[in-house]
Amino acid sequence: MTQDPLVIFTPSGKRGRVAAGTNVLAAARALGVDLDSVCGGRGICSKCQVSPSFGEFAKHGVTVLPGALSDWNAVEARYHEKRGLKPGRRLGCQAQILGDMVIDVPAESQVHRQVVRKDAAVRAMTMDPATRLYYVEVAEPDMHEPSGDFERLCTALSAQWEIGAVSARPSLLRRLQPVLRKGGWAVTVALFADHNGGPAEILEIWPGLHEAGLYGLAIDLGSTTIAAHLCDLDTGEVKGSAGIMNPQIRFGEDLMSRVSYVMMNPGGDVEMTHAVRDALNDLAIEIARDAAIDPGLIVETVVVCNPVMHHLLLGFDPVELGQAPFALVTSSALTLPAAELDLSAINPRAKTYILPCIAGHVGADAAAVSLSEEPEKSEDLVLIVDVGTNAELLLGNTTQVLACSSPTGPAFEGAQISSGQRAAPGAIERVEIDPVTKVPRFRVIGSDLWSDDPGFAAATAASGITGICGSGIIEAVAEMRIAGLLDASGLIGSADQTGTLLSEPEGRTHSYLLYDASAEGGPRISVTQGDIRAIQLAKSALYAGARLLMDEIGVDHVDRVVLAGAFGAHISPKHAMVLGMIPDVALDRVTSAGNAAGTGARIALCSRAARARVEAGVRQITKVETAIAPRFQEHFVAANAIPHASDPFAHLRAVVPLPEVSFNTGGDGGRGGRRRRRKA
Ligand code: FES
Repeated sequence: MTQDPLVIFTPSGKRGRVAAGTNVLAAARALGVDLDSVCGGRGICSKCQVSPSFGEFAKHGVTVLPGALSDWNAVEARYHEKRGLKPGRRLGCQAQILGDMVIDVPAESQVHRQVVRKDAAVRAMTMDPATRLYYVEVAEPDMHEPSGDFERLCTALSAQWEIGAVSARPSLLRRLQPVLRKGGWAVTVALFADHNGGPAEILEIWPGLHEAGLYGLAIDLGSTTIAAHLCDLDTGEVKGSAGIMNPQIRFGEDLMSRVSYVMMNPGGDVEMTHAVRDALNDLAIEIARDAAIDPGLIVETVVVCNPVMHHLLLGFDPVELGQAPFALVTSSALTLPAAELDLSAINPRAKTYILPCIAGHVGADAAAVSLSEEPEKSEDLVLIVDVGTNAELLLGNTTQVLACSSPTGPAFEGAQISSGQRAAPGAIERVEIDPVTKVPRFRVIGSDLWSDDPGFAAATAASGITGICGSGIIEAVAEMRIAGLLDASGLIGSADQTGTLLSEPEGRTHSYLLYDASAEGGPRISVTQGDIRAIQLAKSALYAGARLLMDEIGVDHVDRVVLAGAFGAHISPKHAMVLGMIPDVALDRVTSAGNAAGTGARIALCSRAARARVEAGVRQITKVETAIAPRFQEHFVAANAIPHASDPFAHLRAVVPLPEVSFNTGGDGGRGGRRRRRKA
């Protein structure tokens, strides 16, 4: 008796015997091989493409003979003629297995394909979107067996795709009859099925085979900026990215001032809700237009944000978040119609998924960072710092993960700094100070040249030199400390004390002149004593938060540090450490994760499994509340020194000598404002 043909699928390695004449798609399904299909084997979608191999395969112990796969049939020939198939490719739903076979499933034909994330760490994510396309042929109405068009569509989905209960909103049902008739009773539906096993919902329907794809928006809703990625829900590919300023800034620069605005202006929350929703619509329109994609094809959005932004987006009153015990309306993840958020620019039945919040001060953005950076999988103890107006910190390893937020304020973003500005062309972003001559040189955003390079003036003529941004002020302060212009307590020395006229008197204190174009009517950019104090407050809050987490698990050091956030990507590890923003580790153990919250949003957009994972993961995270921790203040005060009053910073001092200078002559030296602030 001859045996049934043996079929081996690569790269999965799955193998088994199937009856001769079985098509490759059916064989794949029988053996649990991940092979895509939108048209259900009708030879029109081409999602089932495979590459058969012939010859001797010692590794698999099979020989594939030339006739082991059926010849091209008329369906494949027609498809090839109209659309073209790559050399060596076959349509899996048409090619029949006649003998032992080795069949490769290319990445683009896998439903759960692995997509390499193009962010700082090279990791793969597995595509598993909540919304997928299904092509179905629906029975025509029959007077003798009366039933609704929707019921016959459901019957077809069940028979052709084994899909159970399905719902549709009236706005979809209104489209049903014309679309079914236009498609000649063949339609494609976009079916949303969430990760909790809830009933599936038809979000959209098109006549015939829909080939224009499905898209989703991953939105990182920050207090200062809103960034979004438009992603292909089939491939995970980012089709476009855009960012805009958060229009709520006009109600308050930081979160706490927005909460205060609501407290003092009844209805202020509604105003801010409208402002942010309008901005999201504008962003969706812009990003879809630039990518030349119909916004109606955007059927999903994922939003990550801090708790205050979360409440204001959802139309929840944020007042409770402004005062202890910082209660959230809900910390759970939410899946809701995008229309509930007035996202009218995208498909009217689109869904929005909002990641869970970790605690009243640690939001869905921190949950997204944990999804992207996976501290729970780290063998060594990693501190992840998402630096922004409010810093969020995660500390953990495979044993445990802790989280807190720290009220750094906007100084790291260039606000509250005398010559501070947002990161934009013309802003000083890198600074070096010669330790001997005390003369600075710098670079501005928009040019790769240093200020003492030939051609710098021409290269910056268009943007000008307008101010200093967050990474610039961090480098400037750290370089001043390295050059002996600033002592450990944060005092700027006088010209006599430092030996440079660039140290200029300013009231009872001093400032350091970085750039002077006042003779040509341009700006004079200095680092003042007030700037140093603002940076000290911010960095002390950040460091104290990290130390609080370290106390919680009883350690005095971490193994590595990850700087996250758009701003984190631009911070120089050396300068951050000289400043004492982050705990002392070897400099090569400080890495940047780029916009990890945005990456987490993208992962959640493309993967239902990731949604389930983050929801379970946040329940395992221990929340540490900085506002009520008595040791926070203690850590905060000790962290005021640059780099620190008591922590030795041995790794840092081994590579960067820090002069032992002291400029305290008995006055208060501008030392003021060492007060504790709390930002939501
Ligand atoms: Fe659609 Fe094969 S399954 S072409």
